[in-house]
Amino acid sequence: MPEFIRDASAALDERLFEFSQERLVGDLKKVKHMSEKRDFHMTPDEFRRYGRAVVDWIADYYARIESLPVLSQVKPGQVRESLPGSAPTKGEPFEAILKDVEKLILPGVTHWQSPNFFAYFPSNTSFPSILGELLSAGLGVQGMLWATSPACTELETHMLDWLVEILGLPGKFLSSGAGGGVIQDTASSSSLCALLAARERATSYASNDRGCDGRLVAYTSSQAHSSIEKAVKIAGLGRQNLRLIEVDERFAMRPDALAAQLRQDRDAGRIPCFVCATVGTTSSNAIDPVRGIGRICREHGVWLHVDAAMSGVAALCPEFRHIHDGVEFADSYCFNPHKWMFTNFDCDCFYVTDRKALIETLSVLPEYLRNKATESGSVIDYRDWHIPLGRRFRSLKLWFVIRHYGVEGLRHHVRRHVELAQQFASWVRDDDQFELAAPAPLNLVCFRHRGGDAVNQALLDRLNQSGDLYLTHTRLDNRFTLRLSVGQTNTELPHVERAWKRIREEAVVALARSRAQSARGVDTV
Ligand SMILES: Cc1ncc(COP(=O)(O)O)c(C=O)c1O
Repeated sequence: MPEFIRDASAALDERLFEFSQERLVGDLKKVKHMSEKRDFHMTPDEFRRYGRAVVDWIADYYARIESLPVLSQVKPGQVRESLPGSAPTKGEPFEAILKDVEKLILPGVTHWQSPNFFAYFPSNTSFPSILGELLSAGLGVQGMLWATSPACTELETHMLDWLVEILGLPGKFLSSGAGGGVIQDTASSSSLCALLAARERATSYASNDRGCDGRLVAYTSSQAHSSIEKAVKIAGLGRQNLRLIEVDERFAMRPDALAAQLRQDRDAGRIPCFVCATVGTTSSNAIDPVRGIGRICREHGVWLHVDAAMSGVAALCPEFRHIHDGVEFADSYCFNPHKWMFTNFDCDCFYVTDRKALIETLSVLPEYLRNKATESGSVIDYRDWHIPLGRRFRSLKLWFVIRHYGVEGLRHHVRRHVELAQQFASWVRDDDQFELAAPAPLNLVCFRHRGGDAVNQALLDRLNQSGDLYLTHTRLDNRFTLRLSVGQTNTELPHVERAWKRIREEAVVALARSRAQSARGVDTV
């Protein structure tokens, strides 16, 4: 090797040695600093202090919620612009974080828990539920198997059995028989699981092995929730194999149209495998005739799933149980305590009459999940009852809610919501400027101003921009329709009265502007 290269190499070695010495000293300094600072965790005492501050913040939030605009007024991107571009290197004081919740986050929140929230369907909550959720986070349990936390599984099974009784659901959904219930995140997931089990039952579990061959067909009404179409796409049936069955003048599925479509598909060599009936459609709260649909499903050997996402809660009250007429024909059923049963999102209760069909559809048992309890066959492992493996301790909040209110308390508040909605419907009926757009069987009122689509759209925009209340819309009979859904935990008569007053006030303005604009030859308000 030439000498000048040897010299350069030696110089480089020397520099590298110095550099590594410097790095080592630097690293040692860092380690020393870290060992001097105990660690980065919040101490139990700090947790106690900040925990109280958070609970106080939440209690204060509910006290002032009516002073906040129900629909967030921020512009797209505004929340992100207020946040630092990069994550902090150094931890920050909790007080600063909580302050930023108030300053940066709250303006971007739409207040679903405002008693002036009348949009979509409710997603209500209650203090006992919030505390149950906090406890669940505190325990930090992951209940995928009975063995990973027996209480998580057993309390869940027990709550789901209690709910069968308090909603007056068929006994075949109880865990003591061949069926049983499980908590899912959402009704969308329940419908997907139901469809997967239906697909496998129809093909003797061959679709799991070989995939779908394009012959399986699913059915629901043209008014069903979009989650059914999503489930059909995910389950691999193909959107073309979803039949949207016609509805009657009440927007409920027509059993005769279903029967005709099933026959047509069978004659064409297809395999009908799944029907979803809805108890309380999202658009208008229509109740599909489950009994008639159920008989047809039985005749054709097709899996019947009943999606009662919000309205199922009404069955707490014996006088509303007629909505479930025929549910005994169902192979699966779901409803969401996270919509109308004072239990915070997420919490959907999903029931099957034959748990074996569901478990066989979804079960995969790798070696690392094997354990004695599972092998004994005497426990429920909920990992096989839904899509994710991991699961939170959601039944705690249900337990807290049911025990705090008692069945009597739950019934009282559900009844009250229905009464308030019915009161609102009667005001609409008696006002010649407005009309009801659909029957209002429970807590949703679909209505419109008689001035036409543009007036109703303008009315909705004006109300929502005012921040005084929040309403959303749908289209019924191809006409723009306003929806007022009563279900927030603290909504009472004064809130509904004020909503009606504001609707009439803004309607006068929207109508006047519409007339002025049409006089000038402009078609929008
Ligand atoms: C009838 C019906 N089904 C399903 C859903 C979807 O609910 P989730 O958000 O629990 O999936 C809704 C939501 O409003 C609904 O009204």
